[in-house]
Amino acid sequence: MGEIIETVGVTGATGALGRIVVQLLRERHPNIRTVALVRDPAKAADLAALGADVRAFDYDRPETLRPALAGIGKLLLISGNAVGERERQHRAVIEAARDAGIGLIAYTSVLRAGETTLAIAAEHKATEAVLREVGVPFVLLRHGWYCENYVFRVQAAVASGTLPHHAGAGRISAAPRADFAEAAVAVLTAPEPQAGKVHELAGSKSFSFADLAAMAARISGKPVEAVHLAKPEFEAAIVAMGMPAFVAGLIAKSDHGASEGGLLEEGGTMERIIGRLTVPMADVLKAALRG
Ligand SMILES: NC(=O)c1ccc[n+]([C@@H]2O[C@H](COP(=O)([O-])OP(=O)(O)OC[C@H]3O[C@@H](n4cnc5c(N)ncnc54)[C@H](OP(=O)(O)O)[C@@H]3O)[C@@H](O)[C@H]2O)c1
Repeated sequence: MGEIIETVGVTGATGALGRIVVQLLRERHPNIRTVALVRDPAKAADLAALGADVRAFDYDRPETLRPALAGIGKLLLISGNAVGERERQHRAVIEAARDAGIGLIAYTSVLRAGETTLAIAAEHKATEAVLREVGVPFVLLRHGWYCENYVFRVQAAVASGTLPHHAGAGRISAAPRADFAEAAVAVLTAPEPQAGKVHELAGSKSFSFADLAAMAARISGKPVEAVHLAKPEFEAAIVAMGMPAFVAGLIAKSDHGASEGGLLEEGGTMERIIGRLTVPMADVLKAALRG
């Protein structure tokens, strides 16, 4: 192994996205020291085995933040999953990063955070404002939706023959998590300066729910029909799939956002960054439905 050229920290490293980012950094950039910043180090044995430096880092325990950032040059701040708590949590991380002299924060925001009508966007928009206010150099990785978000609905649809949705004819530019992880690694390791850049990241080919139903039918060999439902009926259908009511509410808002074009992005930035088209939704469904 050659000389270490820089140190990159990844928050949420035991999460679904963070794990892939750490794996890619270790596989492709052995001369970068990778620091896995994790809420529970006991869950990170696999990351340590890959050669990552595992450090305890809890957004809700401010005393853990500044010490764990020592020596880190670039930080991937993966947005937390405690909806409603995230502006405060992210502010704590960003202020600690400033105090630690971090050279660049890459933050996983949401597509067109400034102007989007997506309900989930408020905390991302607020976090972007904190980044500006605190004054640390930052780059925005504004994410569209992950293909994986739709898998459980498609699995239920294959079983029932109906794919309920609340998105009208809205199109969705989803990409698999792994492609977003790859884009994050490309940005973190890019030779050209990233501070001040805003990357709107999304899948190469969009789909509607009618398209999703057609994919599900083709792959499963069973009839699947997409059905637009009004909000109360739609939320009830999601609850009937086993989801808690608050999740059904979030999904209804997400679908509504899609109906307004909030999940469609055709700028091609993701492709330019990862150097290829994103993996299609149909491939994600094939893997999930065929096991
Ligand atoms: N664009 C999309 O479609 C989409 C879909 C889902 C999520 N997201 C967003 O993208 C983020 C990453 O997605 P994901 O699929 O990797 O989600 P995930 O698996 O839920 O990962 C979230 C990570 O945040 C960590 N975390 C939560 N609270 C924390 C705290 N107080 N201190 C330190 N770490 C904390 C979790 O730690 P533990 O491992 O200890 O639980 C986990 O590692 C999510 O958190 C969410 O903001 C986007």
